[in-house]
Amino acid sequence: MADLASGLAELRTEIDQAIARVVNSGGFILGEEVTGFETEFARYVDTKHAVGLNSGTDALIIGLTALSLSADDEVITSPFTFVASASSILHAGAIPVFADIDPVTYALDPASVEQLVTERTKAIVVVHLFGRPADLSSLQALATKHGIALVEDTAQALGSRHEGKMLGSLGLFGTHSFFPSKNLGAFGDGGMLVTNDDALAHRVRVLRGHGASRKYFNEFLGYNSRLDAIQAAVLRVKLPHLDRAIATRRAVAQRYEHALHGAPNISTPCGGTVHSCQSHSFHQYTIRLSTPRKRDLVRGRLAAEGIATAIYYPTPLHETPLFGQYATVALPEAERAARHVLSLPIWPAMSHKQQDRVTAALLTAVEAS
Ligand SMILES: Cc1ncc(COP(=O)(O)O)c(C=O)c1O
Repeated sequence: MADLASGLAELRTEIDQAIARVVNSGGFILGEEVTGFETEFARYVDTKHAVGLNSGTDALIIGLTALSLSADDEVITSPFTFVASASSILHAGAIPVFADIDPVTYALDPASVEQLVTERTKAIVVVHLFGRPADLSSLQALATKHGIALVEDTAQALGSRHEGKMLGSLGLFGTHSFFPSKNLGAFGDGGMLVTNDDALAHRVRVLRGHGASRKYFNEFLGYNSRLDAIQAAVLRVKLPHLDRAIATRRAVAQRYEHALHGAPNISTPCGGTVHSCQSHSFHQYTIRLSTPRKRDLVRGRLAAEGIATAIYYPTPLHETPLFGQYATVALPEAERAARHVLSLPIWPAMSHKQQDRVTAALLTAVEAS
């Protein structure tokens, strides 16, 4: 799905030096590298605070925990996402409530969210799936109207914008993942919470270090969830190149649009041109096939030719044993998406030749299926 090593060649010397700097310093947890990266990251996304954590999952759990939710509080989220968007709500001690998605953005459908708001709703976790911005204008208006917190799960959409502003910076807080395959990938796990709220940022900093506001003085039940210095040093080298990497992803996506838009039984995400996909950063390039059977046959045919594809996500969360009890309304768009989507290989350094091989094999497989 992605050749993570290929894009590193030009940064390799700088990354090796950054890692050596950490090893020579003997400071492996938090410290100057993490503080430096937090400052640079906050500048990049244009928020007041950025707090480095172990993972995008922890960023969600700790951010939601900082809201002091109680057992009958509800948090609305999408059933068509990675598990952490919803499991974090359970970890924070509240009840996830699933709203349906918009079939174009794959993110929360504001109309479906509005139907589910009750006096117990304390937050909405919107997921900018695949790198595509959700309908934030409507969701922000809805959150403001009802006095509830808007949380942006931006694990897949670092570098995408809404009306010129970086995703993750528009809600009460945003969460990011540096899982190696993400647009900004570390050499292991890593995450970040960003916010403009001073009190929330302070609380998250305390929670990431066992809930201690000063050493061995524990105020809250906290976590051990700190970004480590080697990951921060690697990410500091990569961050200045992120916008260029995203521009290259968009170019790859445009080539897919050009080759696939209008082909029988395939729907492309942007209807022929990436410009209609706003500032989509194409963490994934995801098409739809006309029937679930065709999707699965095509996937099998491509696999037989050594071409990877992925289904993000094959089972909507409300159809899994963990979350079955949290679906209170019908969720047809999430269910349809799970049965029709297919993500194609994409990474910034993907060559025309590699991409042409994928599109040719895909078109042949669709015709034969
Ligand atoms: C939408 C979404 N949310 C949260 C996460 C969790 O991030 P991490 O893997 O860094 O814990 C991911 C990662 O795959 C994700 O895709």
